[in-house]
Amino acid sequence: MTDTLRFPDGFLFGASISAHQTEGGNTNSDWWWWEHIESTPCREPSGDACDFYHRGPADVAMLADLGLNSFRFGIEWARIEPAEGEFSRAALAHYRGLLDACHERGVVPIVTFHHFTVPRWLHELGGFAYDRFPSLFERYCDRAAAALGDRIGYACTINEPQGLGSSGWLLGINPPGHTDDRDGAQRAVDNLLEAHRRGAAAIRARAGVPTGVTLALPDLQYEDGAQPGTSSLEIESKVSDWFLELARESRDDFIGVQTYTRFRYGPEGARSPGHDWSDTTRELYETDETTQMGYEFYPQALGGAIRRANRSCPGVPILVTESGIATGNDEKRIAYIDRALREVTACLGDGIDVRGYMYWSLLDNFEWALGYGPTFGLVGVDRQTFARQPRPSASWLGAVARAKLLPIHGEVARSAGGAGTQSLQSV
Ligand code: BGC
Repeated sequence: MTDTLRFPDGFLFGASISAHQTEGGNTNSDWWWWEHIESTPCREPSGDACDFYHRGPADVAMLADLGLNSFRFGIEWARIEPAEGEFSRAALAHYRGLLDACHERGVVPIVTFHHFTVPRWLHELGGFAYDRFPSLFERYCDRAAAALGDRIGYACTINEPQGLGSSGWLLGINPPGHTDDRDGAQRAVDNLLEAHRRGAAAIRARAGVPTGVTLALPDLQYEDGAQPGTSSLEIESKVSDWFLELARESRDDFIGVQTYTRFRYGPEGARSPGHDWSDTTRELYETDETTQMGYEFYPQALGGAIRRANRSCPGVPILVTESGIATGNDEKRIAYIDRALREVTACLGDGIDVRGYMYWSLLDNFEWALGYGPTFGLVGVDRQTFARQPRPSASWLGAVARAKLLPIHGEVARSAGGAGTQSLQSV
């Protein structure tokens, strides 16, 4: 057994969720509006989601009992600022309670200030494309950081901003549902860049906590003869480069890296399963080689994503803020996480400063337009009672987190077998 499968002391092992996808009843947000319009691609409304708004402290206790030492969750702008300029003390107190629950259990809270949704009033003004968006985001960050900052471990400004302009203004799969609106998409991207710059500065000034942006960095691979083109993934990838550049210039404290798969391009164009990801009407099914999202099973993508972030922002600490798989086969989930974590240890071995790994997702939750079909969770959620059912993968990751060590090869399949009883003693 070599040390190459070992994680440093202080390494964060945890899981991620977002506010809208788990809290339930987020009625004042643009997504709630979007989910209730007949003509949108949404398969079903979010409804009560996982009722996380009422079950948050119990979920934190469950995560800690599993052995995880950090938790990434979101605060919801639509609750904190339900009308322009009106801030809810009760909503802020609610999130403070959740942060307290983390501290009581020794869990480092990683807080996302913005994860796809905006309050309805802001949506009606134009959302990300509205010219005052950056200053409104800055004020929201300032108020939330003033109320919560002393309890936050890491602050993430905007989740995956690189995709918000294209999905809302070019592809029409997110609010406001425009298609081919290039001016709108450009305004949204420009505003999101400026919003990150201002929001991060406001959080740092108020709370002095490590602050960064979380970016989707799928591994785009071009074979000989392939022509880089203008698919939405390639456009988003370009926008990710702008955010990485901004992170470097504005000296962000960390980069949040998120990835799920690779996308391959050959001389005839896109050739990976799942490159039609933006078709929300597609059939959802998995094979041995693919996941429920239709993506290729390719956990190695994480290594490429971490190295890309490190090339763009050398020396800036990296947090893996999302890595995960939608699957109905929990052994496959364990195999995915195991392989992804091996990529992390390889990057650590190369001297890259990776500080943590957050699996997406703690809970089976609302997968946006695809509704409750895809199951990403370490923990299943009964859709009637909201009862939590931790899967073997949850105990497996908890055991890795406690030992700070990956099982040697060959142990993975065996440890996937017994629900909740995995131990790394055999390592
Ligand atoms: C998003 C999550 C989403 C996950 C799985 C990420 O791009 O941040 O909100 O649920 O991917 O598709």
